[in-house]
Amino acid sequence: EVWNPNGKYRVVSTKSMPGTRWINLLVQQDCRVEICTEKKTILSVEDIIALIGNRCDGVIGQLTEDWGETLFSALSKAGGKAFSNMAVGYNNVDISAATKYGVAVGNTPGVLTETTAELAASLSLAASRRIVEADGFMRAGLYDGWLPHLFVGNLLKGQTVGVIGAGRIGSAYARMMVNSCTSGIYDYTFVTKLEKNCQIEGFKMNLIYYDLYQATRLEKFVTAYGQFLKASGEQPVTWKRASSMEEVLQEADVISLHPILDKTTYHLINKERLSKMKKEAILINCSRGPVVDEEALVEHLKQNPMFRVGLDVFEDEPYMKPGLADMKNAIVVPHIASASKWTREGMATLAALNVLGKIKGYPMWSNPNQ
Ligand code: DGY
Repeated sequence: EVWNPNGKYRVVSTKSMPGTRWINLLVQQDCRVEICTEKKTILSVEDIIALIGNRCDGVIGQLTEDWGETLFSALSKAGGKAFSNMAVGYNNVDISAATKYGVAVGNTPGVLTETTAELAASLSLAASRRIVEADGFMRAGLYDGWLPHLFVGNLLKGQTVGVIGAGRIGSAYARMMVNSCTSGIYDYTFVTKLEKNCQIEGFKMNLIYYDLYQATRLEKFVTAYGQFLKASGEQPVTWKRASSMEEVLQEADVISLHPILDKTTYHLINKERLSKMKKEAILINCSRGPVVDEEALVEHLKQNPMFRVGLDVFEDEPYMKPGLADMKNAIVVPHIASASKWTREGMATLAALNVLGKIKGYPMWSNPNQ
């Protein structure tokens, strides 16, 4: 699919992306936009080399593609100076190879923060209340009446949520899980007299978090939130920054993983660390699959039927390790954490802005290497 065939700069997108804002943006700035319409989901290095062709100024690519030495060398030979992943994560991109060939790399942070955190929250709720299992039970026609023991799960309120990786997404997830929107910050114009006397609460979980680096975002939130709770006289939830990851694993009832994937976080959750978690803990992963040793996880799920997971990402996507799909205590979804319309359109627009910025001689909107 080609837009503005006579445009001066040739920009290739390896996939069709939501919305038209990103296309308009490029077209208005004199770009010829070529969108690959190839049906297969994952393009090979050879497929992408063919797309780049002899002349290409910039490429918008996807996290399923292997952007290493071969592709950056091909892009550079074609005169290309810009590549943007349509993702915040860039573990599929070899930044040093890009630098070697003079190609700037962009990513798309920010617009997916809340959407991704919402999926982590959804999985936390779905796992704690066994929603997927219960749905399967209904559809199988097994429901023959209310029972005191039927699909009893856990109440999140009052439990402890553990966040590993307190960056943008981890912090947004933490806010969602601990927040308690009291009357003090509620818009009075829409509430009835009765509601005014109530506290309007979120999940109000206690929080423990761990990050190897600074956790400024989350720290700012907990400080402000603490002052607010104190002023409103509400009984505060508790929170602390853990001094080790083990502390989170031992204390939290729900643990959500939000680190980036690099060699220090590969198999961060392994057999030994799984064994440190509570027997009835819930583990959520919306970061990258290889952060968890999936084989060890399947074994752990088998041995501990009350342990639950909510997984959006897998070690070897699009595959799951044998046995995982059979586990009733696992909820699995296909890497959809950022899949809201607003976010995906935003990601496409930011990816286009990255490539356009570089082509026009400005900095990229977001360059993880800057
Ligand atoms: C990302 O952006 O890195 C997500 O995995 C997909 O939105």
